[in-house]
Amino acid sequence: MGKIKTIGVLTSGGDAPGMNAAIRAVTRAGICNGFTVKGIYRGYEGLIHDEVKTFTTEDVSGIITRGGTILKTVRSKEFTTPEGRQKAYDVCKKEEIDALVVIGGNGSLTGAWNFGTEFDFPVIGIPGTIDNDLYGTDATIGYDTTMNTIMECVDRIRDTANSHERIFFVEVMGRDAGFLAQNCAIACGAEAAIVPEETTDVDQLAQFMSRGIRKSKKSCIVIVSESPKCGALYYADRVKKEFPNFDVRVSILGHLQRGGSPSALDRILASCMGVGAIQAIMQGQRNVMIGYRDGDAVLVPFSECIRTDKRFDKRLITVLNELSI
Ligand code: F6P
Repeated sequence: MGKIKTIGVLTSGGDAPGMNAAIRAVTRAGICNGFTVKGIYRGYEGLIHDEVKTFTTEDVSGIITRGGTILKTVRSKEFTTPEGRQKAYDVCKKEEIDALVVIGGNGSLTGAWNFGTEFDFPVIGIPGTIDNDLYGTDATIGYDTTMNTIMECVDRIRDTANSHERIFFVEVMGRDAGFLAQNCAIACGAEAAIVPEETTDVDQLAQFMSRGIRKSKKSCIVIVSESPKCGALYYADRVKKEFPNFDVRVSILGHLQRGGSPSALDRILASCMGVGAIQAIMQGQRNVMIGYRDGDAVLVPFSECIRTDKRFDKRLITVLNELSI
């Protein structure tokens, strides 16, 4: 492949606050370094169907404050097929796109990896997901904002829990990961967290109930990671059956937690990662994700960040347990 002149940027998977800041950074750093930058709408779906626009610096004006993604986002089924990826490659040729920056989570970066290796095409990934479940970076774009949003919601729920002396099971997102639930439980002073990384059988829950709901504590908040079978409703149901004298309520935060203006941390992270993606392209990098570890920017091969599970810090369980007595 010859010299890279044009870079395409897209967002894919679930939207996350800070994605716009990343789009802005890729666009402006790209233009600043002499590249043409093309925005690709609706993720890989838009790439397949040639929904592409050349971006000027003005196209990304005023978006750093906005949640969601101005490029829109889709979880593309077609791109998971070789035929879909071939169509996407043909559009890249037609649009003279020489490199791609993909902002998204695990699934999106898996697509990026497949595409990059199949067509020997330079792709750089930027981790954008509220779940923070990508290996190789301490934080993903959107995670900090979402934790703050959850914290605000739970602080409000706490007023009602206290006033009515109720037990609240608050369900948060995270897909298969408990980072949001565990850390938000600590931030909210919750009495417990139920996360997929730790098996919470009903005995454990009963133990907690007898420990947590003591004479002095008549209300409590349990943060539960979403799960198709064992979400907040499941645990609330079990507790209601086993402890009928408790007043139990469920609050599922759902998509309320994914939108909103990004926090300062997410804006800065996204800005640095966007600039880092352009620098990586200039260094001839490909098939890597930009990560931040211990304050340093790192390049993590797709093969590593996709295949490796991010470590769940079990010490956080001790922190919560010891502080919720
Ligand atoms: O990956 C981000 C995420 O918000 C997960 O936490 C959640 O499981 C999923 O996306 C929800 O997806 P959708 O918006 O398609 O319902």
